[in-house]
Amino acid sequence: MRSHYCGELNETFVDQEVTLCGWVHRRRDHGGVIFLDVRDREGIAQVVYDPDIEESFAIAESVRNEFVIQLTGKVRLRPEGTMNKDMPTGQIEVLGQSLTILNASQTPPMQLDEHEKVGEDVRLRYRYIDLRRPEMAQRLRFRSKIVNTVRNFLDDNGFLDIETPLLTKATPEGARDYLVPSRTHPSRFFALPQSPQLFKQILMAAGMDRYYQIAKCFRDEDLRADRQPEFTQIDVETSFMDEEQIMTIMEELIVHIFKSHLDVDLGKFPRMTYADAMLRYGSDKPDLRIDLELVDIADEMRDVDFKVFSGPANDPDSRVAALRVPQGASLSRKVIDDYTNFVGIYGAKGLAWIKVNDINAGIEGLQSPIIKFIGEEVVSKLMLTLQAETGDIIFFGADKTNVVNEALGALRIKVAQDLGQVKDTWAPLWVVDFPMFEMDSENNLTPLHHPFTAPSCDAAQLAANPKTALSRAYDMVLNGTELGGGSVRINKPEMQQAVFEVLGIGPEEADEKFGFLLQALSYGCPPHGGIAFGLDRLIMLMTGATSIRDVIAFPKTQSAACPLTDAPGSVSTKQLRELNIRLREKPKEESQS
Ligand code: AMO
Ligand code: AMP
Repeated sequence: MRSHYCGELNETFVDQEVTLCGWVHRRRDHGGVIFLDVRDREGIAQVVYDPDIEESFAIAESVRNEFVIQLTGKVRLRPEGTMNKDMPTGQIEVLGQSLTILNASQTPPMQLDEHEKVGEDVRLRYRYIDLRRPEMAQRLRFRSKIVNTVRNFLDDNGFLDIETPLLTKATPEGARDYLVPSRTHPSRFFALPQSPQLFKQILMAAGMDRYYQIAKCFRDEDLRADRQPEFTQIDVETSFMDEEQIMTIMEELIVHIFKSHLDVDLGKFPRMTYADAMLRYGSDKPDLRIDLELVDIADEMRDVDFKVFSGPANDPDSRVAALRVPQGASLSRKVIDDYTNFVGIYGAKGLAWIKVNDINAGIEGLQSPIIKFIGEEVVSKLMLTLQAETGDIIFFGADKTNVVNEALGALRIKVAQDLGQVKDTWAPLWVVDFPMFEMDSENNLTPLHHPFTAPSCDAAQLAANPKTALSRAYDMVLNGTELGGGSVRINKPEMQQAVFEVLGIGPEEADEKFGFLLQALSYGCPPHGGIAFGLDRLIMLMTGATSIRDVIAFPKTQSAACPLTDAPGSVSTKQLRELNIRLREKPKEESQS
């Protein structure tokens, strides 16, 4: 129906006749002439209708925003002074001849350039209109291109694209499962995969050697800007490669993507141990665009009278840390109070601070509510340890280690953003040497990654010291976002059982939940490992979007619903009966079809 896309027209088309199809982006009536901005996937072109072409002019007068039209016209240069440099087609316009309305539109619930005013719920309910915005279309197009590059790279490196089931058994990745009741097996449920983890390992046992999949994953967990209940992984697994080789080829993949699509050289990724990342940045996904670092000051604080500091300084599970922020001395009392509330979200009970107004004036040059509690001598020593300078503010956190890390780790990012101290660059890194396990909220050991991750030690050492055991896992971090995570896996049943035992999963439960995996490991499973990248996060970072919802065609809301389709919805009693399910609570709007 068309000869060209609107967005591809430019000066080289002058005098050519073109046929365009698209949406009326805007209609302007300029005393006698009508301008239609016509939009399609590739961009916008200006079309002019003169009254002397009567029939088309009358149609042009009648069209409204978002009408779908087809038109024929001749490309010409715009008159001097009316060229629009900000628009790719801004040098030219189309002098309209014929015009056909292919479909009318009701007045849209939002003007495309006013999407910010309507709120995300409206944008998601009318997603087909929201996605007409060039910015959104551009992101989806970019996403498609990246996926293509990923496929080509992996294909060139011998990886096979293999699909794995969505109706399956639980795959633990730390979230709740989405369950699907089985009609043919009453009272039994499938789980949607939290990742293809177990299947990709079994594909290695099957000798596939190198696998990848652009895989949908499902996790019922608390949602944030970079988390969706349904998201996409670039999922990879290889046999006979150790962590060095896997990290090398996966780094090459990401470097290749950035070079080909953004012309950015990411360079060689630095490596940092988990312990170092927590100590210096309070986070296992440090944003290295920010120079600020946490410094442990427990040694200095052990003997002070101020219990708030000396208590944690003498407790092995606690931490006292300082965050020195250059140019922070100018922060107002109100801002500091706001920061105190901010760290409170992470459980911090306060936020002590010292402003360095003049480092050469000794104690007189410092301003702080805590100097009187910790004493001038300790404060002077502290200034040396922290290499404080005039103009700094130093924040302090004292509490359980995880509270201090989370609070000061988050404050580090917030303050840097507020003071314009986040460098405009790309800062990738690998975080390595993760612990095998961490403590959950009920004080039980839980895997830091997943329970199929190989430890760096043998089974006996693991059983003896599970809390300090390290794993062969690695995370790729970019600008403070965890882009991907993976590991060398356990490939022997004995080691897998040892890990299950540490986790309190007895042989019976292990057999019931993961018997198929243990069996696969016992029939000649090669050494293997892999990684999964969050595709949505990668696209979000590369396009500068602030949420992964902006790079997913049909995302869910913060409460895991789809306003477009109104999912999740209620189901009929007949369906429930077939599934052998009786609801404990009647749904709010009952549907009894
Ligand atoms: P992991 O759980 O770390 O590892 O997930 C890998 C990557 O997937 C992305 N991701 C998410 N993206 C959007 N929304 C979510 N809810 C979400 N959860 C995770 C992140 C993350 O780094 N099977 C292992 C991988 C492996 O070991 O090979 C796994 O799933 O970018
Ligand atoms: P207080 O004695 O509670 O008035 O605290 C004195 C100063 O220490 C205040 O600036 C508090 O914000 C700060 N503070 C209190 N508890 C902590 C803590 N756990 N970590 C860091 N600073 C704290």
